Amino acid sequence: MTQRFDWPADRPFTIAIDGPASSGKSTIGARLAADLELPFLDTGLLYRAVGKAVGETRIEDAAAAARAARSLDPTALDDPALHNETVGALASRVAVMPEVRQALLAWQRDFAARPGGAVLVGRDIGSHVCPAAPCKIFITATVEARAARRFEQLRALDDGVIHSAVLAELRRRDARDAARAIAPLVTPDDALVLDTTSLDVAATLEAARGFILERAARCR
Ligand code: C5P
Repeated sequence: MTQRFDWPADRPFTIAIDGPASSGKSTIGARLAADLELPFLDTGLLYRAVGKAVGETRIEDAAAAARAARSLDPTALDDPALHNETVGALASRVAVMPEVRQALLAWQRDFAARPGGAVLVGRDIGSHVCPAAPCKIFITATVEARAARRFEQLRALDDGVIHSAVLAELRRRDARDAARAIAPLVTPDDALVLDTTSLDVAATLEAARGFILERAARCR
C-alpha cells in the first residue's frame, strides 16, 4: 500500500518547489498538492497578474507595478490569459522590481504557513520566501529540453509559433531570473534536485513524493 502523507492538521509544513521556466515544476507541484490534499500556490501567477495589470506601456513604472502587487485580487489568478508568453515576459520584467517582490512576500509567507501544510511553486520559495521550509525541491532541465516542451504546448494553441523564438525567450528569462539583485534563481543547498531532462512526470512525482514523506517523518 502507498504510504500516506501524515502530518498534524494544526502545524505548518511548507513544501517549496523551485526551478526555471518550463522545467515542469508547476505540473509537478499541482499534482503533488492534489495527491497530498494540500493547498497549492503557483507564485509565478502572482508576477504574471502584476505584469498583465501594468501592461506593456507602463512596464518600466515600478510604482505602478508595486500598486498593482499590493492590490492584487486572488480571483485574478484564475485568468487563463496569464499563461501566455507575452504575459510571461511581462512577469519576468516586474519580478526584478524590489517593491513588487516585497509587496508579494507577506501573501506568499501567509500561504506557506497554513496549518496542515502547503505546496508553493516559484523561483525563490526555498531560498528567500521560506528559507526555513522543511522540504525543498528544485526541478530543472536543460534549456533545450524546456524549449522543446514549451514549443509543443504553444504549437497546440498556435501553429505559427517559432522554435528558435521560444528558445531565445527562455534564455532571456533564465538570464533575467538568475541575474536579478533580489531573490535570484538559485538552487538551495538543502533541496532535492530533480532533472526532468531525462525523468518523466511519473518518475519525478515518485521521487518528490518519497522525499516529502521522508522529510515529514523526520520533522514530526
Ligand atoms: O513560473 P512562471 O513562468 O509562471 O513565472 C513567471 C515569471 O515570474 C518568472 O520568469 C520569474 O521572473 C517570476 N517569478 C519570480 N519569483 C517567483 C515566481 C515567478 O520571480 N517565485
